[in-house]
Amino acid sequence: MSDQYAYLRGEFVPLENASISIRTHAFLYGTAVFEGIKAYWLPESGQMGVFRMADHYKRLQQSSHILRLRSPIDADKMAELTIELIKRNQCQANTYIRPIVYKADLRIGPILTIANTQDDFCLFTVPMDGYLDTSKGLHVGVSSWRRLDDNAIPARAKVNGAYVNTALAKTDGHLAGFDDVVVLTNEGHVAEGSAMNLFLVRDNCLITSAITENILEGITRSTLIDLAQKELGLSVVTRPIDRTELYVADEAFFAGTATEVAPITKFDHRPVGDGNVGSISKQLQDLYSKAVHGLLPKYDRWVTRV
Ligand SMILES: Cc1ncc(COP(=O)(O)O)c(C=O)c1O
Repeated sequence: MSDQYAYLRGEFVPLENASISIRTHAFLYGTAVFEGIKAYWLPESGQMGVFRMADHYKRLQQSSHILRLRSPIDADKMAELTIELIKRNQCQANTYIRPIVYKADLRIGPILTIANTQDDFCLFTVPMDGYLDTSKGLHVGVSSWRRLDDNAIPARAKVNGAYVNTALAKTDGHLAGFDDVVVLTNEGHVAEGSAMNLFLVRDNCLITSAITENILEGITRSTLIDLAQKELGLSVVTRPIDRTELYVADEAFFAGTATEVAPITKFDHRPVGDGNVGSISKQLQDLYSKAVHGLLPKYDRWVTRV
């Protein structure tokens, strides 16, 4: 029996006992929304630092709203429970936090509706480091799978069932020998990575897909836009990106909570720039690492210490 807890059906329970029925609406139809939040161990203070927790819970509320999910608790209470779970689980290493708002109904009727369902909130933590190897450049391929469309399954909402799209793209990319993939929109523009946003550098300008390009509106994306503009004085452009801009970029990197800042040195067997990790990528990687570890006093508001 491990000493780890999860939060389910309104209480903290041992992780082993945190189970749901096979008749649960969310299990049957993927009708749930989630967040991936990261908490870092801060050795100087012997505390955990949860990065941009309020922003993650704000996005969870927005995802819930799109999917007609009504959580029994609000964002402030979710944040309180997160802090309590980190304490109960005695986290002392980098940790991934997974809150989920899900359709908890056990009724299976002939009509699949997402109105008037019984919805619930649950939460667990897992230790996490190194989702992608960020120490060297990644080789990334353009996936033959297309990104979900806003009018089909909105990418703006972090919907559990939508991660079938991610799984197909990522798995086929791996089997083809790539570290990860870029997924295009139905119009053929660059949307994002399998589960992370993408940035390019061209002529010292940072470019990332606009939020109307079927991307998840990433919190790391917004963090890096702030850091690039305010700390490095770079111009940042958000706009549609053509596929072949990948091949002529000077630098490229992925950005995400689990991914952090992961430099890309090859797209589809073509070196990016001179084939080495670029200097803007390195500077942003370094700034991001300082920010999440609470080492940038100006951005201390992003870190909740537990
Ligand atoms: C599809 C997708 N895009 C982008 C991201 C990056 O978002 P964030 O920086 O908020 O983690 C994620 C990760 O959560 C994701 O799943």
